[in-house]
Amino acid sequence: MDRAHLDLKPSGPLRGALRVPGDKSVTHRGLMLLALAEGEGRLLYPLKAGDTLSTARVLGALGAEIAEEGPHFRVRGQGLRLKEPGDVLDCGNAGTLMRLILGILAGQEGLFAVLTGDHSLRRRPMGRVVEPLRAMGAQVDGREGGKRAPLAVRGASLRGIRYTLPVPSAQVKSALLLAGLFAEGVTEVEEPVLTRDHTERLFRHFGLPLGVEGTRIRTRRADPFPARDLVVPGDFSSAAFFLVAALITPGSEVVVEGVGLNPTRTGLLQVLASMGADLEWRVLEGEAGEPVGYIRARYSPLKGVSVDPALIPLMVDEVPILAAAAAWAEGETFIPNLSELRVKESDRVAAIAHNLRALGVEVEEGPDWLRIRGGGVRPGEVEPFHDHRIAMAFAVAGLPVGVRVWEPGWAEISYPGFFRDLLGLCGGS
Ligand code: S3P
Repeated sequence: MDRAHLDLKPSGPLRGALRVPGDKSVTHRGLMLLALAEGEGRLLYPLKAGDTLSTARVLGALGAEIAEEGPHFRVRGQGLRLKEPGDVLDCGNAGTLMRLILGILAGQEGLFAVLTGDHSLRRRPMGRVVEPLRAMGAQVDGREGGKRAPLAVRGASLRGIRYTLPVPSAQVKSALLLAGLFAEGVTEVEEPVLTRDHTERLFRHFGLPLGVEGTRIRTRRADPFPARDLVVPGDFSSAAFFLVAALITPGSEVVVEGVGLNPTRTGLLQVLASMGADLEWRVLEGEAGEPVGYIRARYSPLKGVSVDPALIPLMVDEVPILAAAAAWAEGETFIPNLSELRVKESDRVAAIAHNLRALGVEVEEGPDWLRIRGGGVRPGEVEPFHDHRIAMAFAVAGLPVGVRVWEPGWAEISYPGFFRDLLGLCGGS
């Protein structure tokens, strides 16, 4: 069988300014909260890609009316009481959708729903959400006793709990906070370390109950709340690919504008700066409580570093593109604290090691760490393993010397038009 592929020629300097598509995490959450609101609101400049279109479809099946309006979405909410879906809800590749919607469905008394997803999503751990939800009174079952999808949920009367997350996960935190909107009493989530806080910021935007004390977050049962327009910033995780492409390609200078600079997302900037990257960024405005600004990146000779494990939760989706930068750095880069990467859209530790080797880079893979010997890459073929970020990161890693990307279509899960934008900055090569 002929597999789709894209051959990228060795690139000259990348030059220019661009805006990346809307933030995936904020789009998922914005759609969900607008679906639970009263009346109509717009989600402005959302991400319209595989993952977030899955969310729009699932919310449609639960009674929300979601229409495209140019680049935006117009959402007529169903209110706090959703409609029972007539069929199985397909979450596609979207872990954020499955975990967060489970929190919402758990509190819809009497409502029955079944959640499934693609091959990758059905492999991913769901026990981390199902177990604390059950402690709140949720009725959820699924494969392996509820550890994996498909999952069946019968909405129940929930009560608040205090819960300390065993792993740092914004998805689990968010699922519990969303369930807390339907629960009796107070729901309190304690994080071992800070993770992305978009849910908390959106609760404030919509006037939902929220108390934050350090890494302890509290909510309680919500009253009906009105819809409010919401502007989605550009996705930092998508911007990261262009920043690294510019850093590793001589003569490059790229500016990403209108990008989210939420400090719970930008750990990569600190790591790249410590590698010697010429980066400059500034927050210019705030939209829906999210800081937004620009980032400029210029070609820089990079040097290997040992990454601070505490930064990994602040850059959990940027490790593949950091590995691409490390391959071009002088000396060795050590990246620890990677156990969560084993259970992302693919086993990203293995996928990174495989693709670095395919590009002639020496790499050592531990259970939860990678050691990468930098110095540049050779032309080769890279394999996405059904994972959007692996496809984009290794297209960038090979760009300066030329690379074949198998199944480039995976990029569309979070960034339709990624290769067009990349080649646009290279002068269309
Ligand atoms: C996300 C949280 C992260 C991240 C994912 C999106 C979110 O997952 O990897 O791409 O929107 O909350 P975990 O919470 O499982 O770490």
